[in-house]
Amino acid sequence: MSEKVEKDEISGTQTTGHEWDGIKELDTPMPRWWLWTMYGTIIWAIGYWIVMPAWPMISSYTSGFLGYSSRGVLEEELKEANAAHAADREALLKADLNKVHDNAQLYQFAVRGGKSAFAVNCSQCHGSGAQGAPGYPNLNDDDWLWGGNVDTIYQTIRYGIRSDHEDTRVGEMPAFVTSEMLDKNQVNDAAEYVLSLSGRDTDKEAAARGQAVFKENCASCHGENAKGGRDFGAPNLTDAIWFYGGDKKTILRTISKGRHGVMPAWINRLDDVTIRELTLYVHSLGGGE
Ligand code: HEC
Ligand code: HEC
Repeated sequence: MSEKVEKDEISGTQTTGHEWDGIKELDTPMPRWWLWTMYGTIIWAIGYWIVMPAWPMISSYTSGFLGYSSRGVLEEELKEANAAHAADREALLKADLNKVHDNAQLYQFAVRGGKSAFAVNCSQCHGSGAQGAPGYPNLNDDDWLWGGNVDTIYQTIRYGIRSDHEDTRVGEMPAFVTSEMLDKNQVNDAAEYVLSLSGRDTDKEAAARGQAVFKENCASCHGENAKGGRDFGAPNLTDAIWFYGGDKKTILRTISKGRHGVMPAWINRLDDVTIRELTLYVHSLGGGE
């Protein structure tokens, strides 16, 4: 390899002086436009470092003269949105929940807010459409444990059911076998009776014995006619809507061991506006009374 710089005859450009096996390397300069573009990007980058957040440091970063942050922009936008809704929130806070319906604009605001709060706080148990699941009641139907008017729903959401709040709703269906209140035969009879209530084929003799067991042990909560007792959160046992399940095995399990479903109290987790929105949303779902 020799190092002789010379002019290439064909292109008229200088060579670099590098030559391999008779092949010489031309020293073609970068096009002007390319060079200026590159200098431009370098200057742009330096300017950017100065005005915008750019370089990581040990515990923070260089924040730049403009002090821009995407989190700050979001906070600003949220503040604006909240300010825009402040009047509605204020009105909802003061409103009589039973009358919000008369104010279409406020009602719509509340139900929309309730829907998104439901997706965040409630859907993991009650399902995204509030359709429920075994052990978690469907909130769309008009079969209520505790009641479906606005005031009742509001109280349920605020204080929960068997929650750790002192004002919680308490409905305690005993675990009849575990606590030795009934023996297995009596529970079996009671289950046959419960099956007969929703019009299913049962062992008639057992169901007749079960009716007596029911009268003595169950009617105080579920009602003489088994149509439910809302003061105790006891479900209607005569319809086709089941909370835990209506097959015999599940019914036996419910009576023998109890269930003690827990619904958390929200009064310390959500602000009153959100609880009001949730109340109106749940009430709007179809079962509202
Ligand atoms: C951890 C699970 C869980 C979460 C989260 C939850 N719930 Fe519940 N909810 C339950 C259970 C379980 C019951 C039934 C309790 C019982 O056995 O009486 C219930 C009952 C209810 C009832 C009473 C229904 C009736 O028939 O009377 C309402 C209303 C309700 N929930 C609304 C909500 C709302 C609104 C939220 C969100 C803020 C929510 N729940 C979040 C588990 C939950
Ligand atoms: C102290 C009140 C109380 C008494 C007494 C009681 N229950 Fe219940 N029962 C409830 C409550 C509250 C529930 C709701 C379930 C829970 O605990 O989460 C329930 C739920 C049930 C369910 C589940 C229904 C479903 O939809 O899945 C069945 C079945 C049932 N009770 C049958 C009985 C029978 C049979 C007896 C008598 C042997 C009885 N209960 C006595 C309060 C009572």
